[in-house]
Formats: sequence, structure tokens, C-alpha cells
Amino acid sequence: MTDSSKNLFQLAQAGKYAIPAFNVHNLEITKAVLETAQEMQSPVLLAATPGTVKYMGEEFLIGMMKAARKKYTIPFEVHLDHHENVADIKRMIDMGVGSVMIDASHHPFEENMKIVKEVVDYAHPKGVLVEAELGRLSGIEDDMSVDEKDAIYTNPDQAKEFVERTGIDTLAVAIGTAHGLYKGEPKLDLERLQEIRAVVDIPLVLHGASGIPDALVHETIRLGICKVNVATELKNAFVAGLRVYLSAHPEENDPRKYFSEAITDLKRVVADKITMCQSAQKA
Ligand code: 13P
Repeated sequence: MTDSSKNLFQLAQAGKYAIPAFNVHNLEITKAVLETAQEMQSPVLLAATPGTVKYMGEEFLIGMMKAARKKYTIPFEVHLDHHENVADIKRMIDMGVGSVMIDASHHPFEENMKIVKEVVDYAHPKGVLVEAELGRLSGIEDDMSVDEKDAIYTNPDQAKEFVERTGIDTLAVAIGTAHGLYKGEPKLDLERLQEIRAVVDIPLVLHGASGIPDALVHETIRLGICKVNVATELKNAFVAGLRVYLSAHPEENDPRKYFSEAITDLKRVVADKITMCQSAQKA
């Protein structure tokens, strides 16, 4: 991440709000996120999983970001979300990606740190910010599926050592959130978050924010969360809008028209989540 983006997190941490990270998949969703963030003057991260990078193509993703720099004045970055392949990350850093997550959380502690450190050593001289995860979230995101019984909460003592030895910029914590929607009421281990905050002073990241009530997200922000990841609720809004439009206009074949309701519905969710992150007017 560039120095100005690093500063973004410092501002969020000091101001007790979070930078929203929205998973984007195509031009329509990317523009809808950026337009909403611009309207609300919120900084924003455009998150791309390995599956999304494969779908969009690296050149198109980077090209879109470069084009967007000319149009939008808010601070934003393309952020690699849950990338596991170090060679892919290094290549995309060289192409201009400013923020990356190396997810080696499925490896044992020492191995996780070794992989993360390799990315940090490559990224930092180029001004790129690195996020890593300690513990494991359950749920499904792209090709990554973790059973509830295999979820591991972040250990605060390990978190301290992990941050110190790797030199990461932001830490994704596992405190009870999951990727995808929740079956029942989500229960977060806020005491654990507090314990992590007490020993780790870098910005903390909340994955799996779809379906978490705003009040609970506010509580996590108060306790140190500075980046909030939202994917599923955006996808659900987009496809719901598309279904409504196509069932009302089954004959429509023009994507410029049949995407219209999907984009409107998605923008509404993006606006709600920016409000939830309390990041409006912070650009
Ligand atoms: P949700 O799909 O639950 O919103 O999670 C998003 C996420 O954490 C992306 O990394």
C-alpha cells in the first residue's frame, strides 16, 4: 500500500472508524462501489479474491484501477483478498496492486509466519501494505471452504508474536465471524478482541461482516477493528436486483438495461455498509 493508504489506516485507527473493503467481481460492481464511496466521501478498498482475479484478468483489474484514479478523488486501493500464492502476489505487486492479504492461516504457526514474512519483505520496500490472518474463519468464500468445526479463534499471545516477527501492517482476526451468511444470531468473542488489542497495536481486520448487525460492528470498531470486509451481502443485493428486473422484463437482452436494478440495489447496500463503518466524510 502506498504511504498515503497507510496513512488512511492510521487515520481510521485514530478516528475510530473502519475502512470498508468490498469484494468486486466486474466493471458494474466496481463502478457502483466507487461511485457510492465518492458520493459519500468515504475511503474504500476494492477486494479481489484469487477467483475474481482469474475471472477478471489481472490486466483488466489493474487497468480498471488506473482508469478509476483519473475519475474518482477519494482514497482507494485494489486489495488482494485471501491470496495464498506468493508468486502471484509478487507479480501483482509489480503490476501496481497497492494492498495485499497473504492468507497462510491454514498452515501451522511457524510456517504461516515464514510465508507472511516473505511477502512483507517483498512488499514493504515497494510501499505495499500487507494483511495476514491468524486463526481460521469458517464459511465459504470462492474456492475456500472451512467447516465450522475447523474454525480456530485467534490466540492473543500468538497474535503479538505473529505481528512482531512478520512486520505486517494489518491483522485479520478470527473472533467468531464467518464468510457467508449466518444461520443463527452471530456471536462474537469481544473479550478476545479486547485481549488482542491490548497486545497488538496495528489496525485489526474483521472478515465475514455480511449479516453482522451494525451495532455489533460498531462495538468491534470501538475495540480496534479498522477494516471491515463485506462480500456476500453485495452479491445477494446484485443478484436480487437482477432477478426482479428480469422477471418484470423477461424479453430484455440489453445488459445496460437489465443490470440497472442490480446496480441500484447494490449501491444501497454499499451505502449502508459505509454508514456502518462510520467512514463517510473521511475521504
Ligand atoms: P462475507 O462474504 O461474509 O461478507 O465476508 C467477506 C470477507 O470476509 C472477504 O474476505
